[in-house]
Amino acid sequence: MATQSSDLQTTIVIFGATGDLTHRKLVPALYNLMRKGRLPSQFNIVGYARRPWSDDDFREKLRAGVEEALDGEYDQAEWDRFAERLTYSRGDLDTPTDFEALQKHLDQVEGGDANRIYYLSTAPNFYEPVAKHLAALGMFKEQEGYRRLVVEKPFGYDLGTARALNAALHTLLDEHQIYRIDHYLGKETVQNILFFRFANAIFEPIWNRNYVDNVQITVAEEVDIEHRGGYYDGAGVLRDMFQNHLMQLLSLVAMEPPASISADALRDEKGKVLMALRSVTNNDIVVAQYDGYRGSEGVAPDSQTPTYAMLKLFVDNWRWQGVPFYLRSGKALRHKVTEIVIEFRRPPHRMFKRPRSASFNPNALSLCIQPDEGIHLSFEAKVPDTGGDLQPADLEFHYRDQFRESPIPEAYERLLLDAMLGDASLFTRSDEIELSWTLIDSVMNHLNNAGGPEVLNYPRQTWGPAEADARMSRDGRSWRLGCLHPDG
Ligand code: BG6
Repeated sequence: MATQSSDLQTTIVIFGATGDLTHRKLVPALYNLMRKGRLPSQFNIVGYARRPWSDDDFREKLRAGVEEALDGEYDQAEWDRFAERLTYSRGDLDTPTDFEALQKHLDQVEGGDANRIYYLSTAPNFYEPVAKHLAALGMFKEQEGYRRLVVEKPFGYDLGTARALNAALHTLLDEHQIYRIDHYLGKETVQNILFFRFANAIFEPIWNRNYVDNVQITVAEEVDIEHRGGYYDGAGVLRDMFQNHLMQLLSLVAMEPPASISADALRDEKGKVLMALRSVTNNDIVVAQYDGYRGSEGVAPDSQTPTYAMLKLFVDNWRWQGVPFYLRSGKALRHKVTEIVIEFRRPPHRMFKRPRSASFNPNALSLCIQPDEGIHLSFEAKVPDTGGDLQPADLEFHYRDQFRESPIPEAYERLLLDAMLGDASLFTRSDEIELSWTLIDSVMNHLNNAGGPEVLNYPRQTWGPAEADARMSRDGRSWRLGCLHPDG
């Protein structure tokens, strides 16, 4: 991990500061970083948005967010120390004079040289205008400290818009100044995929087509689209979850070992996985909507937007030839669980012939990303006092038991800290974004073509449409979830 290069004061400017993300995630994360002594000794947090708030209004809104996020650990004196560093600057996201006022506000707050993070937590159509206004005032010049732009998702709506946004940003600032957020990369268990694979010698030799039968990635959500119909109906699960989070999980599981964990070495290898993805056909896609979705506010009554998708992908390279990667994600499903299952091949010869041993389960390694973080390895064991009946058993590692003294931090803590440290390993590079969009665009094209996959329905609180199970059965496989208890 990189270290703080200088103790120059650092200012974090949040655009769209009155939105949910700021008080739910960003500010609680910054607050925790301060408590852990990880922020530079002098820091400023400046909120920028249209609402006519005073500094005190802004502070009060954030205080409530921090108190909620800290769940009983809130300390008034600590908050007061933090709140002194918070100020608010009112302005439009596309009005040049408001950016001039922001510049003055920043000069006043900083009173000298400072590093700056500009955090874009606005609607995506403002990413480019905000960056343009900052550039026009020379606010990306790095003479007095670094200047970095953090861009929230969604990054583009399809390949064309993502490319255009990358190109526009590259005319205003350098790639090394751009930090594209995918909050899944900040999750502790997602970072651990690399450590699990490459800090241990025993897994890598079997991490390939010779031993692995298939890989399953499930990102299931119990919540539905809640109040986000306006955004969601235009996006759907493929843009909202697959283009970013699922593609990132896939590339971390499938990538070759990089020579180092420098940001570019890592991102080069992830990019190669995305480049090796085979084109999908209609048969590789299942899409569906949960019952009642069309009645939600902001959703078209005849909407064809999928809230669930399953994709069957192949990574066409030496390591993974012929190994299917099954990806699924959806809303209003039975449980919240994010899990990657590596299912291994069956033993080549079956000598255990008793009836209860006839159909034993292949070994599976489950990387439990959330909510019960850990790793489980399932294997077959002989049931005691039988002639040779088999039953699956589990070796389980749980973070909550192993790391009692080191609770798992929120993803945004790691990401904000890394952005300040200048470590871009957990941020997506422009080529990764474009490669993921290439795949998602091709899936969308299949959906939009006459004769393409039909949008099915599924009841809430199930594991999705029956067709997703049927597809697996046709391949002689079934979905596995090793991180949930069997009644899940
Ligand atoms: C966001 C999506 O990127 O990720 C949401 O826009 C989704 O629709 C969320 O609910 C899931 O994140 P997490 O961390 O709860 O798995």
